[in-house]
Order: sequence, then C-alpha cells, then structure tokens
Amino acid sequence: MRVLGIETSCDETGIAIYDSDQGLMSHTLYSQVATHSEYGGVVPELASRDHVQKTLPLIEKAMYQAKMTSKDIEGVAYTAGPGLVGALLVGASIGQSLGFAWNVPTIGVHHMEGHLLAPMLEALPPEFPFVALLISGGHTQLVRVTRMGCYEIIGESVDDAAGEAFDKTAKLLGLGYPGGAVLAQLADEGDPDRFYFPRPMTDRPGLDFSFSGLKTYAVNTVAKYGLDAKTRADIARAFQDAVIETLVIKCQRAMRATGWKTLVVAGGVGANIALRRCLSETLAKEDIKVYFPRHEFCTDNGAMIAYVGCQRLLRGERANLAIEVYPRWALSELKSI
Ligand code: KG4
Ligand code: ZN
Repeated sequence: MRVLGIETSCDETGIAIYDSDQGLMSHTLYSQVATHSEYGGVVPELASRDHVQKTLPLIEKAMYQAKMTSKDIEGVAYTAGPGLVGALLVGASIGQSLGFAWNVPTIGVHHMEGHLLAPMLEALPPEFPFVALLISGGHTQLVRVTRMGCYEIIGESVDDAAGEAFDKTAKLLGLGYPGGAVLAQLADEGDPDRFYFPRPMTDRPGLDFSFSGLKTYAVNTVAKYGLDAKTRADIARAFQDAVIETLVIKCQRAMRATGWKTLVVAGGVGANIALRRCLSETLAKEDIKVYFPRHEFCTDNGAMIAYVGCQRLLRGERANLAIEVYPRWALSELKSI
C-alpha cells in the first residue's frame, strides 16, 4: 500500500510517500524556524498560516520526486494530534479533502507514535518488545512497547520536557530559538569540569523526570559568573552533561525493570550526538542495543506519519469523513495495531 503522509502539528510542514513493499519513496520538509525565531517561540497563528501556504506545494514536490501522480496514492495519513490545534487542522483538512477527492481511505496519526516508530524506517529496524525514550520539545517519556500500538508510559517529566529545557537554557544563553541544536554545538567547546549541574530525580527510585530546575541552575550560574564566551560554553556543557546523564540513568533503570534488551530513542533531542554516543556506549555494557532514527527523522517529519498511517490503514483502520484533531491525546489511548 502506498500512503501519503502529512505532518503539520507544530512548526514544520513534513510530507512523505511510503510504500509498504518498497519503503520510503520520497519526503519533503519545510521548517518555519526563521518565521518564529524573532518572537522567541512558536506563534500558533503564524504556524497555521504557513502550513496553509506550504502543504500543497510540498505534496506536489514529494509526488514529483517519487515520480508519481495522485493515481498512485492508495491512502492518506495526517497528524491528528497532539499539537497546535490550528496547525493540526490544516493537515487534517487537506488530508481529508485529498482522500475524498482521490477516493482513498484516510487516517489520523498520533504524532508521538510517529516519533516512536520512526526507527522502523531504517535498514535495520528494532524488534518488539522494546523500551522507547521519547524526547521532543513537548514530551519526555519512557514507554513500554509490547507491540505496535501497545504503549504503556512508565516514566515522564513532571515539568519541562527535555527539548523545552534545552530551548529555555539556550534562550538564556542568547542562542536564539529553538536553540537545542545550537546549545549542543556550543557544549562541545565547553569545559566539563568548570560547573556541575544536578541530575534531577536520580537520587530516588522511579522513572519520572524533572528538568525545570536545571534552567534555574543555569540562571543562577549566569548571575554569578556572567555570560562571556567561555562561561557560555561551559554552562552549555554542564547543562547538556546533566541532561544526558539523567536520561542515561533513567534508561538504565527502565531496561533493568523490564529486563528487555532493546531501547529506541526518538524525538528531536534524539538528534543530540553526545546523547546518542553516551546512551549506546553505556547500555552496550549491559548487552542492550540502542536504536535511533536517522538524524533528519528525529525531528518532525512526514515520513514517520506516512509509515504509521500505512500500518494502520493496512490493518483496516479508517478515519470517518469528519475533520477531527486532538491537541491533547495520550499515547496509551491508542488501539493496538
Ligand atoms: O520532535 P521535535 O522536532 O518537535 C516536537 O515534537 O517537539 O523536537 C524539537 C526539540 C526542540 O526542543 C529542539 O531544541 C530539540 O528537539 N533538539 C535538540 C537537538 N536538535 C533538536 N536538542 C538537543 N540537541 C540537539 N542536537
Ligand atoms: Zn515532534
């Protein structure tokens, strides 16, 4: 089955065509980062308007790249939540309209299920069951994944998501928005021994996270030491080391608790190279294999939506004709595939 995927949940328009026999046929992406950066965060109304302008041209481009026409498409998948309501409605309206016009079935996909299954697009995909660490701008969750569609949250952030903490600290350091990737680059130049930030909630049992205190720690360090170029890099390093070690400790605990040997890491923060290295090396010592999506499929993209949509459509799931989106939607509410 050949499925067109549409992702418009936040500030990226992502389009892809996935074929269940041949794999990923094409994918296109437009990032609105430049539009939102001058406001220091995503402006929902601007995001929606931009998706309206970009979605159809990107679909045409993806079709052209895959050398296909609308007649080759057998299903349409769009992100139905969680995310910004206006942005989601753009993708859902376009997806439903195309499905109706082309007379093919449609399906609304859960954005985080897309992230979670993104490693399935790689040549060597993970096998079930596995533990997934979802680390994006809006979510930090450890998920017990018994099979496709069967998700149990075993740990999550009680306050800021990991990506949100990266972005807030980056903003404090004057690195712009969203600054996660820029902060990560700067951290490479920082002195790992100058500052030490706490590893939140690792001193007690459990799999939950708390990242908002690290931002406060960064604020206090800036107040005390200023923000010259070296201090900025050293703070970036201390912050990143704290987030990484915390994530590694919680992943180790989750793997021991389940006894499973496969960890999947997905979501924007999963693009962090130091984190990828540290998780893989530490868990390899416990005979655990860690899977990541390729770099470009860690952050938001259409490929993960086309993939999940295809799996659900193949099993007979269908959206009805209503255009429905779910800005808040728990992973655990999903039906097993
Ligand atoms: O999954 P994603 O693209 O969007 C959401 O669904 O939230 O994740 C975006 C988040 C942002 O907070 C961004 O700063 C962070 O991922 N991010 C990174 C890196 N690349 C993106 N954080 C740390 N290191 C990176 N290299
Ligand atoms: Zn995302």
